Amino acid sequence: MNNIAVFASGYGSNFQAIIDSIKSNYLSASIKLLVSDKPNCLAIERAHFENIPVFSFKAKNYPSKELYEKKILKQLDKYNIELIVLAGYMRIIGETLLKGFKGKILNIHPSLLPNYKGKDAIGQAIIDKAKITGVTVHYVNEELDSGEIVEQVSLDITNLKTRNEIELEIHKIEHKLYPKVIKKVLEG
Ligand code: GRF
Repeated sequence: MNNIAVFASGYGSNFQAIIDSIKSNYLSASIKLLVSDKPNCLAIERAHFENIPVFSFKAKNYPSKELYEKKILKQLDKYNIELIVLAGYMRIIGETLLKGFKGKILNIHPSLLPNYKGKDAIGQAIIDKAKITGVTVHYVNEELDSGEIVEQVSLDITNLKTRNEIELEIHKIEHKLYPKVIKKVLEG
């Protein structure tokens, strides 16, 4: 089956890379659902364009994370989702989803974890004057950006002059790495 759900909150370039890797037959999977906490984000437009069902919500309309995650779980069940792929989803996954999808949630993070966990990992690397940073794909657990690492790719940033240049190179890595890791995980 290989039914996956992608969670995204923003631009959705990784979401698009996964869509494209399926279209080109590199990745044998079906994106059954996009989940987003930002009802107006570009990732949702991409989903509409590709006829991918969307579940969007505003966290502030729910009294707790548990309640909106229960709603998400219902959607995941409806579409027989086997793997959750976080692609720029800006919320911490709570107990409800972690329990329902134990060992079945992947995330991509723009640093070589365990370095630069949390928000703005690229900014953290710049402030730190890092020579090398990179991208990590890992499983999600209860601790932020701390689950088992599946794959990492490093990037030498000593010759990159601006934040923009670094972001561009990080994204190039991400768009290749994420479909590759999803393929590996799905194929077992
Ligand atoms: C990526 O850099 C990813 O590593 C991080 O959020 C960003 C999402 O970018 N988790 P996009 O929305 O896929 O373009």
